[in-house]
Amino acid sequence: MWEAEFYMASTLGAGSAEAMEALRRVPMFSELEPKQLESLLDESTLKTYEEGATIIKDGSLLADMYVIVKGKVEVRKKGKVIARLDEGQFFGEMAVLNAEPTGRSADVLATEKTTCVRIRGLAWTAFLRRNPDVAIEVIRLLASRLRKTSRSLSLLQNLPPASS
Ligand code: CMP
Repeated sequence: MWEAEFYMASTLGAGSAEAMEALRRVPMFSELEPKQLESLLDESTLKTYEEGATIIKDGSLLADMYVIVKGKVEVRKKGKVIARLDEGQFFGEMAVLNAEPTGRSADVLATEKTTCVRIRGLAWTAFLRRNPDVAIEVIRLLASRLRKTSRSLSLLQNLPPASS
């Protein structure tokens, strides 16, 4: 089962204590007041995936963001693992922040029973505009992922020498 199959799921609503608790444990949200998180919950669903379940399919045109509240996932490209993410980390941000006709950039699978808050893409970008400290933390985390990917790539491939 993957994201398309529960696209019609009802949203959590600001009153979802379980989701609020889950989001407050995520480090990048820890400084926020519950009220600031409520707007996100209005546009979110809480979902648990069994081990091995595909959460995001490479090439899919859907664009929601996921925050892992419990469990672990692997990001895979053509069957190869390119990243491992766990509790407190997010994924699915690329299609939200940078929509491409080619859709999602990779597969994302649960490697154990995993619970995520799934946030509608438009709600996530509106939330980042209202909460610049969270936006900066997201950028910092993306820079760290790019650094790791660049390191892996340079180790794996015989990249051409610099021209100067
Ligand atoms: P998106 O392209 O929307 O869906 C697949 C997700 O996998 C992507 O967003 C990122 O969240 C994640 N992803 C893709 N490439 C990497 C990478 N190199 N390192 C970490 N996460 C990645």
